[in-house]
Amino acid sequence: MFLNQWESRWEEGRIGFHLPEVNSYLLRYSGVLLKQAPQSVFVPLCGKTLDLPWLAGRTKKVVGVELIRKAVEDFYEENKITHLIHQAGKLQLYSNSSIDIFQGDFFDLNHEHVAPFKAIYDRGSIVAIDPPEREKYVNHLMSFLEPGGRLLLITLEYDQKQMTGPPFSVTANEIEMLLAPFGILELLETNDILDDRLRNKGLDVTLERVFQLVKN
Ligand SMILES: C[S@@+](CC[C@H](N)C(=O)[O-])C[C@H]1O[C@@H](n2cnc3c(N)ncnc32)[C@H](O)[C@@H]1O
Repeated sequence: MFLNQWESRWEEGRIGFHLPEVNSYLLRYSGVLLKQAPQSVFVPLCGKTLDLPWLAGRTKKVVGVELIRKAVEDFYEENKITHLIHQAGKLQLYSNSSIDIFQGDFFDLNHEHVAPFKAIYDRGSIVAIDPPEREKYVNHLMSFLEPGGRLLLITLEYDQKQMTGPPFSVTANEIEMLLAPFGILELLETNDILDDRLRNKGLDVTLERVFQLVKN
């Protein structure tokens, strides 16, 4: 999915992934994610999630990256958070004392922008990446996690023949194959979240899974 497709989703308000409240898995597993009392948490492909301010209340700094300017501007405006905007290489940095968002392509974020983190929270992100880019995404993501750091990851798995993504289906086996080489991977929870909306899209099983990875 290219820039203009995400752009039109945001422009047309086709953002069914955006939750009106803090993600319930984050509430349940924040103890896992924040176990080492990290100074900062990284949220890749953050959209305008309310998980950002929630995390900002529990750590010094939350850093997001998001492709679409409207998403970033809506986030600061809707949450009434003052901010400054600077150019940061190919990205624009929207900064505030507690929440920074780099607006631009995640693949353009590099180690001159941010130091590695002790905690990364990925919800709706690995499943948003085009499948051919998935391995590159994981390798890039892992470059931002410190040794000993923790990733909390939420995925979706369904029959990809029944629906086109995003969100794309990512199987538990693929997660194992992509992430286990980086550390100790644990599946925390699996739920079938099939409801009428998903059934009407043609799905008959939709598994949401929560993983944690502790990096070697
Ligand atoms: C499914 S949404 C999830 C947003 C957020 N994590 C949440 O839980 O609400 C995926 C987001 O990734 C953004 N995105 C897609 N590709 C991206 C990229 N290459 N770099 C940065 N953001 C990207 C999209 O604009 C979209 O807002």
